[in-house]
Amino acid sequence: MTVHSLNDLSSPDLLDAGHSKPARLAVIGCPVGHSASPRMHQPALDEAGIDARYIALEVEPGQVAEAFARMRDLGFIGCNVTVPHKFDALAACSEVDDAARDLGAVNTVRFDPDATRGSNTDGYGFEHAVKETLGIELSGKSVLIVGAGGGAGGAIAAHCVRAGVARLILVNRTLAKIEALAGRLSNGQTEIITLAADTMGHPDQVKLAHSADLLVNTASLGLKPDDPSPLPDACFTSEHCVFDTIYEPPRTSFIRAAEAAGARTANGKTMLLHQGVRAFETWFPGSKPTAAMRRGLEGG
Ligand code: ATR
Repeated sequence: MTVHSLNDLSSPDLLDAGHSKPARLAVIGCPVGHSASPRMHQPALDEAGIDARYIALEVEPGQVAEAFARMRDLGFIGCNVTVPHKFDALAACSEVDDAARDLGAVNTVRFDPDATRGSNTDGYGFEHAVKETLGIELSGKSVLIVGAGGGAGGAIAAHCVRAGVARLILVNRTLAKIEALAGRLSNGQTEIITLAADTMGHPDQVKLAHSADLLVNTASLGLKPDDPSPLPDACFTSEHCVFDTIYEPPRTSFIRAAEAAGARTANGKTMLLHQGVRAFETWFPGSKPTAAMRRGLEGG
């Protein structure tokens, strides 16, 4: 996959040389070469007959506002935003939706004539993924999120509260981070419990883990094939639904521990799909991109 730089955005001739379709959408990140977004979005554009190319654009930290300005000048429709730019993107938007404001992070941008509009589709992607893969509706459930100290964990935790979960158990190596998160999310409706990851072997904490309907890993622990599971084996039961936001590798130690206990499991690939679908619908309201995007993702 070609990875473009900001320099390529200095003229449409440079950007679109050798291509039949003009670049109109992008994913920005640093690095961005690994992103699955181009291979999901391009088939959906092609199927809908939209004359546009979706590109990968590497943007250095501190250059998000500049990237937005250049994309606007070139007539871009919008962009996706990935690590490490989701926070800078929020600041560079002139309007943001409630989800993005709650999370302090933007992953989808639409360049409208009157505004640069930011939104966050990660929570939506999570909700639809657990529904599709595990048959779970979040409302009224008890959800445990381990590794909730990072961006993905914060997004999912905030979405769980918005979706009306009854109990949210936040687990993290660094307790201070999830205590701050719990303080931000507290709304008097969802019971929020915070636990240090290194206490999860204690019988009381194991019991709490067993009380959850859904266990979710949002820690980056698991990205390396030999990473250990972020939760002790004793926390998993056959009654659990277990979701890992990691999809590469497809079966982390977290998933393997859940499988060994007889739990239902799913990895983060479907979340990637659904956050992308929601982004596409933001740019092209009324479109039905799911099937084409799923094929693009599976084919890659
Ligand atoms: P971000 O998503 O914001 O980039 P990150 O550094 O990738 O953040 O970390 C995401 C989550 O993975 C955090 O909850 C982090 O725990 P801390 O808050 O304690 O840093 C968790 N995490 C990363 N490496 C870990 C490890 N080796 N053991 C346990 N948790 C880990």
